[in-house]
Amino acid sequence: MSISRTRLDRFISERLSINRRDVRLLVAQRRIQVDGRPASAINQVIDRFSQICFDDEVLQSEQPTYIKFHKPTGVVSATEDPVHKTVIDLIDHPKADQLHIVGRLDYNTTGLMLLTNNGHWSRQLTLPGSKVEKHYRVTLQNPITDDYAAAFAEGMYFPFEDITTAPAQLTLIDEFTADVVLTEGKYHQIKRMFGRFRNPVVALHRSAIGELTLANENDDLDTGEWRELTLREKAVLDGST
Ligand code: URA
Repeated sequence: MSISRTRLDRFISERLSINRRDVRLLVAQRRIQVDGRPASAINQVIDRFSQICFDDEVLQSEQPTYIKFHKPTGVVSATEDPVHKTVIDLIDHPKADQLHIVGRLDYNTTGLMLLTNNGHWSRQLTLPGSKVEKHYRVTLQNPITDDYAAAFAEGMYFPFEDITTAPAQLTLIDEFTADVVLTEGKYHQIKRMFGRFRNPVVALHRSAIGELTLANENDDLDTGEWRELTLREKAVLDGST
C-alpha cells in the first residue's frame, strides 16, 4: 500500500485485516511502533515514509529520496513534456519516475534544483511562510542603475496575480551583473522584476537554496549532474525552513 498521509488505525486495520477496536488494543499494548517508538494514539497521522512495525514485523519502511541537480539550459522543469527534454529525463535514478520538482526553473535558467518523492518535505520548503532564501546570479542586457536595489527591496506590484512581491535583495556585481535573493518563487519573477526597468535578462543561474549550494565539502556538481543529498545537506536545508 502506498500512502500519502493517513491515520495509523486505518493503515494497521487494512494491513492486518483487523477491526479498529483491535488496533486500539494493539496500540494500548504498545505492540505497534512508529519510527522506533510505541504509537502514541490510534489517530496518529503517518505517511509513506513513517516506519511502522507490529511486534518484530516491519509493515512499512521506505526511505525518501532527496536529489540535488545542476540544471542545464534547454530543459523543462516538468516530469513529462511532449516536445522537450525534462529534468527527470536527465536523472538516471531507480525512483526517477516518483520524483517531483521543488521549485521550478525556467527553460533557459541554470543551477540548483531539488527533487524528491516526499511531498510533505517539498511543501515545507515551498510554503509561503517558509521564507527559504533562493540565490540567483543574473546577467542583464543593459547596465543596472542605482534605483534597482530600492525597487527590489520595496517589492513590486504584479496586477495579473494582484500580489506585491516580498522584499528582495539586489547586490551589484558589475554593471551588467547582479546577485538577487528571493524568499518566494512567483512565475518568471526575476525576469518580470527586471522587466519593470525594460532590461531583459540574458542569463539566470540559481546558486543556492538556503545554505545549500551546488558544491559541498567533497564535490561540485557540473552542469547536468545530480546526486542524492547527504544527511548533512538535508539537515542544513531543514534548518532553513
Ligand atoms: N525567476 C525567473 O524569472 N526565472 C527562473 O527560472 C527563476 C526565477
